[in-house]
Amino acid sequence: MATPFIFFILLEIVSLSIGVFSYEPAPMQDFCVADPTNLAAVRVNGMACKNPTFVQADDFFYSGLHISGDTRNNYGYRVTPVTVYQIPGLNTLGLSMMRIDYALWGANPPHTHPRATEILTVLEGTLQVGFITSDPQNRLITKVLQRGDVFVFPVGLVHFQRNMGHSNASAIAALSSQNPGVISITNSIFGSNPPLSTELLVHTFHVDNQTVNLLKRKSSSIQE
Ligand SMILES: *[C@@H]1O[C@H](CO)[C@@H](O)[C@H](O)[C@H]1NC(C)=O
Ligand SMILES: *[C@@H]1O[C@H](CO)[C@@H](O)[C@H](O)[C@H]1NC(C)=O
Repeated sequence: MATPFIFFILLEIVSLSIGVFSYEPAPMQDFCVADPTNLAAVRVNGMACKNPTFVQADDFFYSGLHISGDTRNNYGYRVTPVTVYQIPGLNTLGLSMMRIDYALWGANPPHTHPRATEILTVLEGTLQVGFITSDPQNRLITKVLQRGDVFVFPVGLVHFQRNMGHSNASAIAALSSQNPGVISITNSIFGSNPPLSTELLVHTFHVDNQTVNLLKRKSSSIQE
């Protein structure tokens, strides 16, 4: 007789822990449109809510993702983000979007999103994409994508995209956070402020002083 009861208790514990560990729990209201002007208000894993009476269609709206981003920079790519900062209505909903444009041979260099899994589809062109699994395997999982192909980058893993075609390329990605964040590997290692010590980086990469200082200089001079 006791078995179903214990099973029920276990099920409760499991569902409670899922609730505790999910980053952006299910909303307990229709929406909580972000009100960035209300700096005094209490925030719970997001921004303060606008009074629902004053919410408009434009709070859930963004226009312009058909326009290609300017890729004339050192990396040859441009991200056009559509996060809670562009659409306040995304607040607490655990979702965002972006458009990425790539010049010929342009690349979105290795980076991670600390708070989001990403699903990307190619609109135009040919992209090599990939991510690297965690230590100790560090396995590179990579594929060449054509128009209409879809690829997933699991949350937190280092990933990249590179234009492999003979024309500009573009993609649309959806991310499982209203504010996915980005950690660019080169910027964080060689471009931190204040900088990591050259001795530490010499020790980390087993290269000489000059090489580390060169990478530091390049990282601070590269502009996106
Ligand atoms: C490719 O992108 C560059 C930079 O954004 C742009 O100047 C150029 O016109 C684009 N080429 C084509 C064929 O669309
Ligand atoms: C490395 O370069 C710094 C200056 O950037 C210098 O002070 C230090 O002596 C150098 N160390 C070695 C081992 O060459």
